[in-house]
Amino acid sequence: MTVELADEALNGSTGSTDAARAAETREPVLDVTGLEVHYGSRRRRRLALGGVSLSVAPGETVGVIGETGSGKSTFARAVLGLVRPSAGSIVIGGEDVSSYGKRQWRDLRRRGLIQYVFQDPLRSLDPDLTVEDSLTEPLLVQGVPGKEAAERARAFLARVSLAEELLGRLPGELSGGQRQRVAVARSLVTEPRLVILDEPVSALDSANRVQILGILKELRAAGVSLVFISHDLGSVAGIADRVAVLHQGELVEVGAARDVINQPRHPYTRLLVRSAPTLRTAPADRAERQALRALLNV
Ligand SMILES: Nc1ncnc2c1ncn2[C@@H]1O[C@H](COP(=O)(O)OP(=O)(O)O)[C@@H](O)[C@H]1O
Ligand SMILES: [Mg+2]
Repeated sequence: MTVELADEALNGSTGSTDAARAAETREPVLDVTGLEVHYGSRRRRRLALGGVSLSVAPGETVGVIGETGSGKSTFARAVLGLVRPSAGSIVIGGEDVSSYGKRQWRDLRRRGLIQYVFQDPLRSLDPDLTVEDSLTEPLLVQGVPGKEAAERARAFLARVSLAEELLGRLPGELSGGQRQRVAVARSLVTEPRLVILDEPVSALDSANRVQILGILKELRAAGVSLVFISHDLGSVAGIADRVAVLHQGELVEVGAARDVINQPRHPYTRLLVRSAPTLRTAPADRAERQALRALLNV
């Protein structure tokens, strides 16, 4: 099986003689160590993430895959400051945000270095804001003058192939695919270094899926780091430099996308590769799949 992946991204050579600059540019955009998240009350605590460590280099796209309930969205929420970890550290662009309170997180999000797109665009977009207001708001809170914000919003609309006539519409007046493109455009207006995408194409039909994946590939080419979360290995295969596999709240495998797909080491990863329809080469052996499922308790 062959999967097209960018070689230059996998090799990551620096070749710069300016050592300080090289060190600076190699500093991870996101560096997560030993991240633990519990849900529930003090007496009935349930572990959702158990000591996850993952870093994302500048310009790198990391796919995070795993079945429903494996902790993918919890990881996204923790990295966006929407759920408080019980242990571990999160460093974003060199800034240790692990102990940030609500206010500091809000300030950090306002700076727009880290952005997000969720599966349901209605969760990334305010239903009461027009497309234009959704796109200009992140700029206005940064103090960008109104006229410039509007111009930049228009430019990003074009980048996600949406017509200007949509600027006056509310999210509820758009199709699912249009809404998700607005959510992607909104995540980009502040020119972030890192975008966390939680199942960005899972709710879309195949035409919209292909289009959004195309937009994400352009972003990747433009040097934005992406964390692309999906339950479907197939949808991250063509875009991720590395793939991290979450199983029951733990990372069981991390590696170059090509290696994880072609030579999965963990039995759970093998199961995911076999159950991704677009990746499957030989008919999956039903007995083996059943045995794996039993072994892994999934
Ligand atoms: N708000 C919540 N309260 C309690 N448990 C939750 C909450 N959100 C998620 N969980 C639980 O945490 C685990 C991981 O969930 P989640 O991160 O949403 O997984 P995924 O995104 O991979 O489907 C699951 O067992 C889920 O039931
Ligand atoms: Mg999820």
